[in-house]
Amino acid sequence: MPKPELERLHVRIAHSGICSRRAAENYIIEGRVQVNGASIMELGFKVGPADVVSVDGKVISDAKKYTLIFHKPIGVVTTLNDPQGRPTIKQYLPNYGVQLKPVGRLDKDTDGLLFVTNDGNIALRISHPRYGLDKEYQAVVEGIPDEKSLDKLRNGIFIEGGKTAPAKVELVFVEQNHQTTSVRITIHEGRKRQVRQMFYAIGHPVIKLTRLRIGPYYLKGLRPGECRMLSKVEVDKLKKTLGLEV
Ligand code: URA
Repeated sequence: MPKPELERLHVRIAHSGICSRRAAENYIIEGRVQVNGASIMELGFKVGPADVVSVDGKVISDAKKYTLIFHKPIGVVTTLNDPQGRPTIKQYLPNYGVQLKPVGRLDKDTDGLLFVTNDGNIALRISHPRYGLDKEYQAVVEGIPDEKSLDKLRNGIFIEGGKTAPAKVELVFVEQNHQTTSVRITIHEGRKRQVRQMFYAIGHPVIKLTRLRIGPYYLKGLRPGECRMLSKVEVDKLKKTLGLEV
């Protein structure tokens, strides 16, 4: 007979979506967790698929999944807890009694569209380059880049970590008085400060950066700090795009 798959108790609790792994460990230490009705305070304790786990007397089950789009404001860090005490996205997220996590990153100084979800499969695939979701940005850059410079971005340019993949780049507007330019850029990768690095490499540093779109989802209609839960139809469409079962 094959052995049933065992997992650590705190991992099972975190997977249910009610809290993080660390919080689950604390629940165990505090004596708030039972397995098959017996109180368990041992951190390394393992459970199998048939074990019934409860926290504060309530049986945990697979949590309902939520996926939202959020307009991250400038000055807010893309994390739920910042050791440096800076404002985080947490204060903007609704409390559904599950742990919603950001998918991927936006720099503190960048605003725009961010997915937030407690669905681990969606999170994994949105950030995976294999599923190639486009990410479209509006960048306001210093100076006026010529077409030759923009072509370098289109064809791929060397930044930290190697050459970038081809990008779609479109000059939108030149602000003659301020000597700045608005440029739309669409990339597939998600390297650290990628758009800022790319413009820096052609000598036109970014002054302001906003993510307008990820795949078929647009920021439009969301003010900074606002979020919107995706409907079932939208989630199913997203799952299909990501090759997940609906
Ligand atoms: N590129 C950047 O430079 N910053 C972001 O936040 C996202 C993409």
